Amino acid sequence: MSNKFYLTTPIYYVNARPHIGTTYTTVIADVIACRKRALGVDTFFLTGTDEHGQKIQRSAEKANCSAQEFTDRVAAQFRALWDRMGLTYDDFIRTTDPRHKRGVQKLFSLLQQRGYIYKGSYTGQYCVSDEAYVDVPPGAPCPECGRITETVNEENYFFKLSAFERPLLELYENNPDFIRPETRRNEVISFVKAGLKDLSVSRTSFKWGVPFPGDEKHVIYVWADALANYITAIGYGSDNPADQAKFEKYWPADLHLVGKEITRFHCVYWPAFLMAAGLPMPKSVVANGWLLFEENKMSKSRGNVVRSETILDVLGADALRYFLLREIVFGHDGSFSFDALVQRYNADLANGYGNLVSRTLTMIGKYFDGVVPEPVAGQADSISTEAPNAIAAFNRSFDALDFSRALETAWAMVAAVDGYLTASAPWKQPESVTDGQQRALRATVLYTAAEAIRIITALVYPVIPDAAAKVWGQLGLGDIHTADLRNLTWGGLPPGTRLGEFGPVFPRAEKDAITRMQQIEQSNNSDTPAVPAENTLGEPFGALAATPVETQGLAVAAAEEAAPPSISPAAPAAPAPSVPVAVAKGGSTQSAAPSSDKIISEKITIDDFAKVDLRVAKIMVAERVPKADKLLRLEVDLGYEQRQILAGIAEAYTPESLVGRKVVIVANLAPRKLRGLESNGMIVAASLEGGRPVLAGFLEEIEIGARLK
Ligand code: MSP
Repeated sequence: MSNKFYLTTPIYYVNARPHIGTTYTTVIADVIACRKRALGVDTFFLTGTDEHGQKIQRSAEKANCSAQEFTDRVAAQFRALWDRMGLTYDDFIRTTDPRHKRGVQKLFSLLQQRGYIYKGSYTGQYCVSDEAYVDVPPGAPCPECGRITETVNEENYFFKLSAFERPLLELYENNPDFIRPETRRNEVISFVKAGLKDLSVSRTSFKWGVPFPGDEKHVIYVWADALANYITAIGYGSDNPADQAKFEKYWPADLHLVGKEITRFHCVYWPAFLMAAGLPMPKSVVANGWLLFEENKMSKSRGNVVRSETILDVLGADALRYFLLREIVFGHDGSFSFDALVQRYNADLANGYGNLVSRTLTMIGKYFDGVVPEPVAGQADSISTEAPNAIAAFNRSFDALDFSRALETAWAMVAAVDGYLTASAPWKQPESVTDGQQRALRATVLYTAAEAIRIITALVYPVIPDAAAKVWGQLGLGDIHTADLRNLTWGGLPPGTRLGEFGPVFPRAEKDAITRMQQIEQSNNSDTPAVPAENTLGEPFGALAATPVETQGLAVAAAEEAAPPSISPAAPAAPAPSVPVAVAKGGSTQSAAPSSDKIISEKITIDDFAKVDLRVAKIMVAERVPKADKLLRLEVDLGYEQRQILAGIAEAYTPESLVGRKVVIVANLAPRKLRGLESNGMIVAASLEGGRPVLAGFLEEIEIGARLK
């Protein structure tokens, strides 16, 4: 069996900085890499950033800087976060690196030489957010992310993907572990069985990419460029013999870790490119589920993100790692909340493992002068007899990537040792027991607890490396990072070992930890300047939306076609209100509010108001929705993204009168579908009951994306 392990994370788009959703896969990869190294495997862990393509070019334009400056800045943010978290990646590839460009061009020249590339043209829909060609009618949303697709009509180079239908199906059949988990495997197999069309692998309508070899009018399609990072980072395309040797040593990859929505790219396109180039197949692609926040995928464009830094500031990196691996069943979606994080931290880390270490080592300090005592031979106890089973169960679960269960096993051991200490009560001396007997009993109990802690610590080291390093040192065992953690067997802690210096491992989280983290997040959001340039780097607070309600006098014009908000052609036209918001009911522009107009008297706090993410947006496209008299389909630009909103204002506004107009939208409501189209936000308008809606607007110039607050 080969003693090398090459694992990769997806490379992250640099259109926004990282959050805990993007941290998730990287942490999983780091945990696996740490364990492999501790087991003596020659491990290479690669991560990096995906920096080309239309999405990034547009983000850079909005930020008013060159694409290179923009990507330099955000790639540095990713790297800085990984470094702050102490992640142990061996290389960080950027797709703007010259070594990557060279490798990509070599790969595509080879595909061309081998007859797998031809010139053609593509007319169809493209989702810029996912950087994916999608098979939907013009104007329809992307089936994956729900955002508006754009029509592309370009000359392209095509890759003969259709030639790989059979070979791909054989690959999946002969290698049942190639795609995991099973659900993703089934999805991919059905996708391929439904028939593969040739894939456009170049773009001509923008410039930010790797030039196509021999035809620089084209840039290589960003996914084709990005996937190649897995080989270019380890030397593919280089003439240097050391790089070539590295490639020979590490390729094929043992594990590509990916998010579930990008399995198709990794399990269909990537192996097909490799087959066409005559290169070996990666051994497996494993997909993780999504980290959800408030029931939606945490994502930069949805704006419902939590920054990893917030958690690092308050609880530290180990807390985040432990939470992600223990709380989320790997392969499934899982929810993040500050409550759950702090609860796990206090219950498992502070009161569980941390407390066990502290009480055991304190007693060894007190009763044995800080030297690990010699246990009395032949006294079997449930802890030492159960330990081999627990170690085997942990290893089995971990190697099956069932991290949550592995940790459950380790923490069952923590609880068992805790219970054993309490039951044995080494601090008490029953009257019938002599001093000598008492000392022997104490020695056995405390040795057993300390040895169990050593084993638990060695097992969980990849998950909580900082804490494990402290405990290892406190046990007097030196540096865990260089320790040999193979063949863990009971009795490995030598009696007579002098303990190291004590110190808290996981101090209990203070009562206000949750509010502190929430405040850090909030101030991060409100500090985010509303100008689009900054918004693309900061995480916008608002997101997909559209529940058609009348809220506190805001006649919200998005959505429900069946019950459009207070529209009546007979109602008097009111002048457009000025900033900040059309708070219309009972307002001064309408002197005779009908009595049925409810005046809301219940007071709300500023925090309640802050929950509504009101943003300035510009209407770019407006059109009627077929067979829906009252609905308009709008495409609005928020500076940091474009989105589709359906508004029940067709009887009050013609589509032509709206294009170019700046409006106010509620940006953070859940999306909903109307007439089969997704509405991602609400336009704010004022109206009297039964009256015409009047869109909120501005008298002075204001940038799109600006937040109303
Ligand atoms: N650039 C491509 C990947 C190219 S790999 C050759 C890309 N980038 S991404 O930044 O959009 O996403 C990178 C990874 O982050 C994906 O695996 C995605 O699933 C993951 N995640 C982004 N948000 C996430 C969560 N909320 N939860 C879990 N994973 C998340 O796709």
